[in-house]
Amino acid sequence: MIIIKTEEEIEKMDRAGDIVSGMHEALRDFIEVGKTTKEINDFCEEYIRSHGGIPSQINYQGYPYATCTSVNDEICHGFPTDYKLQNHDIITVDTVVELDGFLADSAWSYQVGEPTELTKKLMDVTKEALYIGIEQAVVGNRLGDIGFAIQDFVESQGFSVVRDFTGHGIGKEMHEDPMVLHYGKAGRGQRLIEGMVLTIEPMVNTGKWNSKLDSNGWTARTVDKGLSCQYEHTLAITKDGPRILTLQKD
Ligand code: MF3
Ligand code: CO
Repeated sequence: MIIIKTEEEIEKMDRAGDIVSGMHEALRDFIEVGKTTKEINDFCEEYIRSHGGIPSQINYQGYPYATCTSVNDEICHGFPTDYKLQNHDIITVDTVVELDGFLADSAWSYQVGEPTELTKKLMDVTKEALYIGIEQAVVGNRLGDIGFAIQDFVESQGFSVVRDFTGHGIGKEMHEDPMVLHYGKAGRGQRLIEGMVLTIEPMVNTGKWNSKLDSNGWTARTVDKGLSCQYEHTLAITKDGPRILTLQKD
């Protein structure tokens, strides 16, 4: 069942989103060669709590940390560890914050040290794929329009879109209906209605889209050791178009 949000509820989600986006803005300077993914997680958790938010991922279905920190071939749900970031790594930091009973969710990828030709292209394509998907998030379109636009663009660039993880509705709960696929057919699926709040969060791989799960039961990585990247926003469907609730400053 899709839960439609009132304007007041969307305002609350926007305020939760301000904490998530502020955290990502702060990470731009914090992430560097030599930092461990645990240090990055702790910095995020401190940021969230000191801004009055609750890090919703802790204990979510047993997930142990405030953030997912997914490096290089890790697609999503990477555990923060003692791993020290190295030059040319890419890392995705994903988090959900609750404020005043409502949630916001955003993942962002960061270049560690210097880019390579491949990391730069992968990050550019993945971010563009997110915004191409968001452009389709208008009243009257269908979910398939979002998925198709993302897949079509990503594949035209020679990369692949992960199928095993999707975007989702969000509100008082982290995962609500509907599921938002990042691939599919235009004109198909649920119609978009004013007041829906969704995440769009394409994960893009340099190689095959297929994933496998680590023995921790959470971390998904590419089967061929190719790189994976992700950008995610929470957005509301409004009569004036998509309203991004986790927007960052330039
Ligand atoms: N933030 C994730 C999402 O985009 C959810 C992470 S699962 C968790 O849906 F267990 F880590 F919370
Ligand atoms: Co997320």
